[in-house]
Amino acid sequence: MPVDRFAAERPVPKPGILEIEPYKPGKAKADGIENPIKLSANENILGASPKAVEAFAEGAAKMALYPDPRASILRGAIAEKYGLEPDRLLFGCGSDEVFQLLNQTFLEPGDNIVQPAHGFAAWAIGARACGGEVRNAPEKDLHVDVDAILELVDERTRLVFVANPANPTGTWIPFSEIRRLHEALPPSVVLVLDGAYAEFQSDRDHADDFELARHEHNVVVTRTFSKIHGLASLRVGWAYLPAEMTAAVDRIRLPFNVNIPAQLAAVAALGDDDFQRRSVELVEIWRPWLTQQLSGLGLDVVPSAANFVLVKFPSTPGKTAVEAEAFLTSRGYLVRGVANYGLPDHVRITIGLEEHNRAVVDLLAEFMGR
Ligand SMILES: Cc1ncc(COP(=O)(O)O)c(C=O)c1O
Repeated sequence: MPVDRFAAERPVPKPGILEIEPYKPGKAKADGIENPIKLSANENILGASPKAVEAFAEGAAKMALYPDPRASILRGAIAEKYGLEPDRLLFGCGSDEVFQLLNQTFLEPGDNIVQPAHGFAAWAIGARACGGEVRNAPEKDLHVDVDAILELVDERTRLVFVANPANPTGTWIPFSEIRRLHEALPPSVVLVLDGAYAEFQSDRDHADDFELARHEHNVVVTRTFSKIHGLASLRVGWAYLPAEMTAAVDRIRLPFNVNIPAQLAAVAALGDDDFQRRSVELVEIWRPWLTQQLSGLGLDVVPSAANFVLVKFPSTPGKTAVEAEAFLTSRGYLVRGVANYGLPDHVRITIGLEEHNRAVVDLLAEFMGR
């Protein structure tokens, strides 16, 4: 029975809003624990590029001014680095905002988006806010299943979201699968390829994604400064998309959505190859180590191409994921339970510095009674 919103005694949110599960960020603190180690949000454990920190400080002097709404310098720097047309770039307050803008541009009530079952939460929040339906395609062994996605696509599908590598699973699919997905989608459906963790999969040619987007009218590739560049707090994300789509989305993008210190820091971070290399190297050293060590404790570690690992715990009382998370928290290590992603037996752990990774393994060995 629809509510008569005019006759209501107080303002009533439009239908669907109160059914949206609010975004649940990785824990940043725990009662009674001073200075916990935060491995719960896939941030860059090295912090931010020192060059970005310097640029941010310079930007502070410009705080009284509105930012460049086109982020022209950052736009030029990204276009040059990746060989992309500047006019086909779109900037957001994090890539989260890019997803929201795409949803707002393409979805009307009754339309739907299709995503893998364990898809990143922000996509669905934005879709539901537009009155869109969210269809979850079952995954195959925690990997994106292209056929399952295609099965859910119908005439009301406007967007398909895929992250590669994915969060929270960390798994990836080959580009040939992305191409197959694209080829089978109706040309009216926007395919969003979320590359938040792309840089941590250094053995893959990511130019493929951009090339696909360059030649197709319905492909969007997103990237973020939150992970590899360590600028999560500054909220800078971007997308490479067809020119006519940029022109549409830009009509609803609020003009000053990326602030001056963030734009300056992002430009500096983009040019700091040394910091990016160190960030990738750290993950490349410790990701296989953590995978091997945790597997050695009898835990199921999902193969990851991102800056985190997803670990499955037994359902035996005393050894569950919920208890493991609580145990690590009590010892000062914050990790991420992912029950809200439909994975109640798993815990997601961001790759830390050497001492963090060793401590996590030692603590989980204790937890598992090894
Ligand atoms: C798959 C995926 N996409 C996008 C984002 C959001 O990135 P941003 O900080 O640019 O909003 C995240 C953040 O955790 C993510 O895991």
